[in-house]
Amino acid sequence: EANERESMYLVSEYAQQYFSDILWESELGKAIGLSYFKERGFTDETIKKFHLGYCLDQWDGFTMAALENGYQLNYLEKTGLTIIKEDTSNPNNSKKFDRFKARVMFPIHSMSGRVLGFGGRILTNDKKAAKYLNSPESDIYHKSKVLYGIYYAKQSIAKEDNCYLVEGYTDVIQFHQRGIENVVASSGTALTPEQIRLINRLTKNITVLFDGDAAGLRASLRGIDLILEQGMNVKVCTFPEGEDPDSFAKNNDLEEVQEYLNSNSKDFIQFKANLLAEEAADDPIKRADTVRDIVNSIAKIPDAIKREIYIQECANIMKVSEGVLFSTLAQIGKKDI
Ligand code: CTP
Ligand code: MN
Ligand code: MN
Ligand code: MN
Ligand code: MN
Repeated sequence: EANERESMYLVSEYAQQYFSDILWESELGKAIGLSYFKERGFTDETIKKFHLGYCLDQWDGFTMAALENGYQLNYLEKTGLTIIKEDTSNPNNSKKFDRFKARVMFPIHSMSGRVLGFGGRILTNDKKAAKYLNSPESDIYHKSKVLYGIYYAKQSIAKEDNCYLVEGYTDVIQFHQRGIENVVASSGTALTPEQIRLINRLTKNITVLFDGDAAGLRASLRGIDLILEQGMNVKVCTFPEGEDPDSFAKNNDLEEVQEYLNSNSKDFIQFKANLLAEEAADDPIKRADTVRDIVNSIAKIPDAIKREIYIQECANIMKVSEGVLFSTLAQIGKKDI
């Protein structure tokens, strides 16, 4: 219902302001939250631009403040900002907890800048606790339809006619601070067709930037086929071992980052063909799988001319005949051939 959603937006906006005020104005917020962001290399301007904040290490500090300011518990619960633990023996004694207790806060905005939800990061590198905690799916926050940073990136994506797709919140923020604004993050979820459509409205070109930790590289390749399906052009760029776009942009100046991106961005199909060909090496069975895998990706491309060009390139990379690739393609799907 529209009124309910509006109430959820309003309490989320209040939360953004509250966590930001804590960060800038409270002693603990400054000592813990603000110092954390400064240590990561974020400037005051950047921290303000992205409305970053801090949720104090208290059970219900935020929830109580929201209630005192007239926000209803119902919407605090629906947005996931507050977690309610019922006392089964006494319903009047249910306990309220701040979901994001003791975390630095990254508000997540819609294309038009409304607050949909939050990501909250712990400040330690304690491997036992989840590093990031995110708002739950709700009537205003549909994870599969949201890209972190899209509100701040949309103009630049259109202007540059390209979109960098990164993994995390801090990658987006550090790129902005470095002067590259056409960047969004899928934020931990596997890429969805709806997320790609958001970008597709602004540009037909996506460059996917992978963390240099190889984790999930193979898995992510599948998600990229979804981009090809929408007729978009995809490049990929990997980072040196142990680096991600955040650390790389923090440690290099704008010219170096741009130079790195330009010289390391590879066409996705070529990248995949090279990667798979290398892995399969001289194993004939693996090579056959590889051929099918890569032709599967090519089959997603709606444009027949592009498909043909890719087939020719891949035949070279994988040292098989074009004929074999074309007949595999014909078997897979006969999309507008
Ligand atoms: N993520 C998440 N929950 C986790 C870990 C990760 O939701 N427990 C999401 C976050 O959106 C995160 C992204 O996946 O930004 C990428 O994860 P990772 O590369 O591990 O984190 P970084 O963004 O590099 O975070 P940081 O630099 O703060 O360690
Ligand atoms: Mn603002
Ligand atoms: Mn990672
Ligand atoms: Mn990362
Ligand atoms: Mn990182």
